[in-house]
Amino acid sequence: MKILAIHGSPRTIRSTTRKLAGFVLEGAADAGAEIEMIDLADHRIIPCSACEACSLNGICVNDDDVPPLMARMQAADAIVFGSPVYIDNISGQMKVFFDRLADAIHYQQLAGKFGCAVATTEESGGDDVVVYLSHVLNYLGVVSVGGISVAIGGKAESVDAEEPAARALGKKLVDAVRDGYPDPVQEAVLADNRAYFRSLVLENRDLRTDEYERWVKMGWIR
Ligand SMILES: Cc1cc2nc3c(=O)[nH]c(=O)nc-3n(C[C@H](O)[C@H](O)[C@H](O)COP(=O)(O)O)c2cc1C
Repeated sequence: MKILAIHGSPRTIRSTTRKLAGFVLEGAADAGAEIEMIDLADHRIIPCSACEACSLNGICVNDDDVPPLMARMQAADAIVFGSPVYIDNISGQMKVFFDRLADAIHYQQLAGKFGCAVATTEESGGDDVVVYLSHVLNYLGVVSVGGISVAIGGKAESVDAEEPAARALGKKLVDAVRDGYPDPVQEAVLADNRAYFRSLVLENRDLRTDEYERWVKMGWIR
């Protein structure tokens, strides 16, 4: 079982968000998972230009690091999203990455995986960012098992106080992959998302035949 964390702090190895996501991974590793961390800031990610080329064949006109990042997400059983709070929102690095996942969202390419979200902030906005990251997980068809935000408040050690909770979240992810995580509220959200994207998949059935056939196989199109 593989658990992958992706965080959007430009501070990479000095990042408190990375540290918090790392605690989640360590909890998952203790529970038996193989773990992996991705620093988005170390990757070349060109912003979406809304050319809509990907909607024709699933391939972006930009040649950058997004396809291998997507492959690493596809290979994972669970995904941890982490971001620092930047002006009450996720970091630019994280948002540029998310915009490039539009095709993955439309075709629900990560459906069936589990996830969780972590955020750090100096003072405020951490809970809202966790809610947003969890929302993006759901958009991708991923069921979230929870999230943690930490307000650092000028004390770098604040994040260490959350180590036990973050490790427990990592174990919860592993348990979800092993045993499932029934959540009728999120299941209804995911079903609504699929109902919304179904018309696009039908409209593009001749262009995106593989995706159409996958949707039929999944029972999402009858
Ligand atoms: C551009 C920028 C914007 C920020 N905006 C906020 C903010 O709106 N509210 C807040 O409480 N902290 C804000 N912060 C502080 C960071 O959220 C905080 O230091 C966070 O823990 C950094 O995480 P990192 O070490 O993973 O990069 C901001 C920091 C930067 C650099």
